[in-house]
Amino acid sequence: MLAKVDMDKIVSLCKRRGFVFPSSDIYGGLGSCWDYGPMGAELKRNVKDAWWKAVVHERDDVVGLDTSIMMHPKVWVASGHVDGFTDPLVDCKSCHLRWRADELDTQRCPKCGGELTEPRMFNLMFRTFMGPLEEEASTVYLRPETAQGIFVNFENVVTTSRKKLPLGIAQIGKSFRNEITTGNFIFRTREFEQCELEYFVKPGTDEQWLNYWIQERFNWYVKLGVKKENLRLRQHGKDELAHYAKDCYDIDYLFPMGWSELEGIANRGDFDLTQHARASGKELTYYDAEANEKYVPYVIEPSGGVDRSVLAFLIDAYDEEEIEGEKRTVLHLNPALAPIKVAVLPLSRNEKLTPLAKEVNKRLCSSFVTDYDDSQSIGRRYRRQDEIGTPFCVTVDFQSLEDNQVTIRDRDSLAQIRVPVTELNAILEAKLKGEAFDASDLWATRQK
Ligand code: GAP
Repeated sequence: MLAKVDMDKIVSLCKRRGFVFPSSDIYGGLGSCWDYGPMGAELKRNVKDAWWKAVVHERDDVVGLDTSIMMHPKVWVASGHVDGFTDPLVDCKSCHLRWRADELDTQRCPKCGGELTEPRMFNLMFRTFMGPLEEEASTVYLRPETAQGIFVNFENVVTTSRKKLPLGIAQIGKSFRNEITTGNFIFRTREFEQCELEYFVKPGTDEQWLNYWIQERFNWYVKLGVKKENLRLRQHGKDELAHYAKDCYDIDYLFPMGWSELEGIANRGDFDLTQHARASGKELTYYDAEANEKYVPYVIEPSGGVDRSVLAFLIDAYDEEEIEGEKRTVLHLNPALAPIKVAVLPLSRNEKLTPLAKEVNKRLCSSFVTDYDDSQSIGRRYRRQDEIGTPFCVTVDFQSLEDNQVTIRDRDSLAQIRVPVTELNAILEAKLKGEAFDASDLWATRQK
């Protein structure tokens, strides 16, 4: 089964419309590093905001955190990453390309057919030095997951938030992995962003909470518009579980290269808190006043990639349609994710239309992210807005100068309604929330 759009079309749209550019583009790019352009920066921010809203703000059992990328090197020994965060690597003896041994189904180099070396373990953490001395004692790592910043702050957060278990601690931030094989655009990169929740629960209730979070996270993607048939759940086999996991489910998305992981939801048991308690000498337990007992909480961890979500939202929203014999490319993005919510388009760049069009934009821009565009033909401007997924275009025409009314064009249905400028904010607010909007009153107002 293959997705309906190929990756080249998404990459091309991303470059053409300012979503994603190759990093250091003028120098020919840097392998697997990407920059988010004006549209991509908005989209990515909206994805993170939607996650934070659902996981932190709309709940009373989760608090947020923002920890540093570089941490004490002992963290990564205790967490098992220094010893265990490795991939088996083989080198081609002829062309010297490197491959992941566990991803090869041949004994020879897939590029040139050359002989391969024996596999050796390669640690995926980026290492650097803190301070002026480049020596072993000053080695630090760029974090390969944001989760450890949460575990080492467990005590601080429980004490200061005065919350009871079950308690979640959420974080969004950059992580770094020196992946051997990258590719598929922003799907697998060496620098990426994660949205992670560590949900601390009483041992024995962990399986129930694992099921709960699988549902919650699956529904989050669906609510934001991802088609259910493009999502699936997959339980990890015992041989693929990470070193810390008792159980794990992936939410997979049907990417153009096939079903691939979008997010993992793991039961980490008490692995991390126990390891950090042992290594730091600090007691990392929770006193349950109701049960009058002390225990090391278990952890359920939904962990998603921001960049992968952005890619899945783009692919899922992408469509090519034929409207009255003309082809249009459109992103049917959920309005909460769309980079621009409302485009203000004067019918043409005309000195009579400009003042009213600018005034309309001014009215809107403090409430919505708007784009004012008066270049080129109105048809081309609609097509541009469709391609970046703008849910509504507001057109100001010569009639507007007479009746102070403008036209709202809906991206998906292409329906147009004419409304008074004075009502515009309220109508767009309702429409962007997805509320059905009944225009009958307005038509009545107009006829009066
Ligand atoms: N703390 C658990 C953890 O990091 P993971 O399955 O290794 O688990 C979680 O990563 C999520 O982070 C993945 O589902 C994926 O969305 C994202 N991710 C991991 N490695 C990535 C990479 N190299 N590039 C982009 N996203 C990545």
